Amino acid sequence: MTQMKSVVLARRPNGNPVAEDFQVQVSDLPSLKEGELLCRNHFVSLDAGFRNWMNEGSGDAVLPAMELGDPVAGLVLGEVIESLNTEYAVGDMLMARFAWQTHSISDGSDFIARLPNTLEFDPAAYMGVLGDTGMSAYFGMKDILKPTAEDCVLISGAGGAVGSIAGQLAKKTGARVVGLVGSADKGQWICDVLGYDAAVVRGDSDSLAEAIKTACPNGVDVFFDNVGGATLEAAISNMNHRGRMALCGAVSGYGVPAYGPSNLFEIVTKELQVEGFMTHFRHDRYDEAREALSEGLRSGALVSPEYRLQGVDQIGQAYADLFAGRNYGKTVVEL
Ligand SMILES: NC(=O)c1ccc[n+]([C@@H]2O[C@H](COP(=O)([O-])OP(=O)(O)OC[C@H]3O[C@@H](n4cnc5c(N)ncnc54)[C@H](OP(=O)(O)O)[C@@H]3O)[C@@H](O)[C@H]2O)c1
Repeated sequence: MTQMKSVVLARRPNGNPVAEDFQVQVSDLPSLKEGELLCRNHFVSLDAGFRNWMNEGSGDAVLPAMELGDPVAGLVLGEVIESLNTEYAVGDMLMARFAWQTHSISDGSDFIARLPNTLEFDPAAYMGVLGDTGMSAYFGMKDILKPTAEDCVLISGAGGAVGSIAGQLAKKTGARVVGLVGSADKGQWICDVLGYDAAVVRGDSDSLAEAIKTACPNGVDVFFDNVGGATLEAAISNMNHRGRMALCGAVSGYGVPAYGPSNLFEIVTKELQVEGFMTHFRHDRYDEAREALSEGLRSGALVSPEYRLQGVDQIGQAYADLFAGRNYGKTVVEL
């Protein structure tokens, strides 16, 4: 009988996840029932947002709380290798919200985005620049922030999966683009490789707000936030009148008591536009986003950096690395 490997939630992470929170389990692959499909997963995408559902009782409208001992929910890229579901045929390539497993069985009711059967780019790109994170950068910049050459754009989590693409898209508009990162090395890298104009390193100065002010002496017109909490607070205090802010994520508050900015009244006094968004609600526009981002890859206008580990045994470690900031660009594991 064919065997499959699953990464299960062995214990609930305390703050940032560590590799020991996860365990690999081997089991027999069950036979398909009527209406089900079997997907052989080739890549697992590691996404900060899924940390939210690892706490007890954390279920919400998006996902139920993960149960101890169950495979960890996450995005995968795979190929249908058997199907008793009329909607999916053998050979279909999928990007889907399944779990950290070598094989997934689905009745088709999961969140599934179809990919072209023949992939033009390295498959990992469909998890990163052409996946949920790249499309988050695209929708945040194109639909909400719309930067121009006159703007100063600030991006938090600037060297991560979303931030690495958001920074490049903002630079293409001619704006001045400044990134917030966790280390001097990453700060140098976002300038050298992604084209950011300047980096602000978290913790380098007693006051993040002052450090942003030094890097953005004329204030911030546009803020793309992946971090939330104290970072959001420091950004708000630097926003110009009628600035725009897109709230994409708040990684500083995942799985830990979230810090609430104390200066929200500045949204009123500065007449700021603030909009949160979830990329999966724009599922009907994935083809448009993927094509626009693909064009950037084809022309060389976009680079898609990634932090790739190999093998199902490395998934837990890769997830820990993401929260520790060891990733430059998109974090994926190839199975
Ligand atoms: N709205 C949506 O539809 C959507 C979709 C995808 C992702 N997201 C959000 O986008 C954000 C980025 O997600 P991702 O999966 O692409 O991760 P990522 O940016 O590739 O990695 C997370 C990065 O966040 C930084 N970080 C970690 N802990 C931090 C803290 N306490 N304070 C400040 N920075 C911290 C680290 O970089 P440093 O080296 O800079 O510390 C780390 O590399 C997340 O908030 C995620 O929830 C939203």
